[in-house]
Amino acid sequence: MKAEIIRLLKSCDGYLSGQELCEKLNVSRTAVWKVINQLREEGYEIEAVRNKGYRLVESADVMTAAELESCMGDQQLGLPVKYYDKIDSTNNQVRRLAEEGAEEGLLVVAECQEAGKGRRGRVWKSPAGSGIWMSFLLKPQVGPEHASMLTLVAAMAVASGIQDITGMETKIKWPNDLVLSGKKICGILTEMSTDLDSIRYIIVGIGINVNTPDFPEDIAATATSLYLESGKSWKRSELIAAIMKRMEQYYEIFLKTADLSGLKEEYESKLANLGRQVKVLAPKQEYCGICRGITEGGELLVEREGGSISQVMSGEVSVRGIYGYV
Ligand code: BTN
Repeated sequence: MKAEIIRLLKSCDGYLSGQELCEKLNVSRTAVWKVINQLREEGYEIEAVRNKGYRLVESADVMTAAELESCMGDQQLGLPVKYYDKIDSTNNQVRRLAEEGAEEGLLVVAECQEAGKGRRGRVWKSPAGSGIWMSFLLKPQVGPEHASMLTLVAAMAVASGIQDITGMETKIKWPNDLVLSGKKICGILTEMSTDLDSIRYIIVGIGINVNTPDFPEDIAATATSLYLESGKSWKRSELIAAIMKRMEQYYEIFLKTADLSGLKEEYESKLANLGRQVKVLAPKQEYCGICRGITEGGELLVEREGGSISQVMSGEVSVRGIYGYV
């Protein structure tokens, strides 16, 4: 009922009468009044005027299950949504729920992660109050060899979702970091559970620096946030809903061919590395070249000295810019 009240208040330009709310939700006036008070405590500014009703004046950057649900449309990906004030890692929580039988689409969001995981075993600092720490569950009917492409699909969804809400154009540092002004704004960690030659499930974990005002010294040179780049705070719930909407759109296109043929062009338009010098750090060798785009399988195309093109697979290498992070 709480999510529905939030949705109704948000969609109403003027006042929503208590009577209307009671009728729509089939509950008593007291029940509505109780929820309105809870919402006020959570940070919503709701005006109440006698004979007129309730009006949502402003909702701060509230993150609760009801707020998240109220932002979701009728999409499949992103529902149900489970919210936690604190969790070890949203990826771990999706894994636990998947093992208990959760279905594709489940989204886990946390205000704070106590053991946030980055790629290559790194720690992902996830304090409360400013970032998006979320993971969702996918069960695509494709072979495990196609799974890594979903990380690229997720990067596109985050870039587009951020643009839909903020108008800011983030770029993708292949395969799946998002950058703004040459600094990292988002990281994605995809994990998979397989059965012999099929995927049981995939967990896509996304960390975004949204309203982060500053960063620790060790990452300040390479990390930024939407707040630092725009000077404005953003509502995380709206960003999450926009990203999941975009993810559903891109995921559908991906599933048609089980590769990136339908998405390659758009991915390349968002690719920060395109046409730039990159350094490929493979386990046994290191080389430089110019990034020429991606393949339909998601490998990076790097033109080497002499004109030959190498296809770089994600996972085995790290790609750096020559003059900086990108
Ligand atoms: C990277 O190293 O760039 C990937 C970072 C991924 C962080 C996100 S935050 C939500 C999800 N839960 C985790 O423990 N990690 C991912």
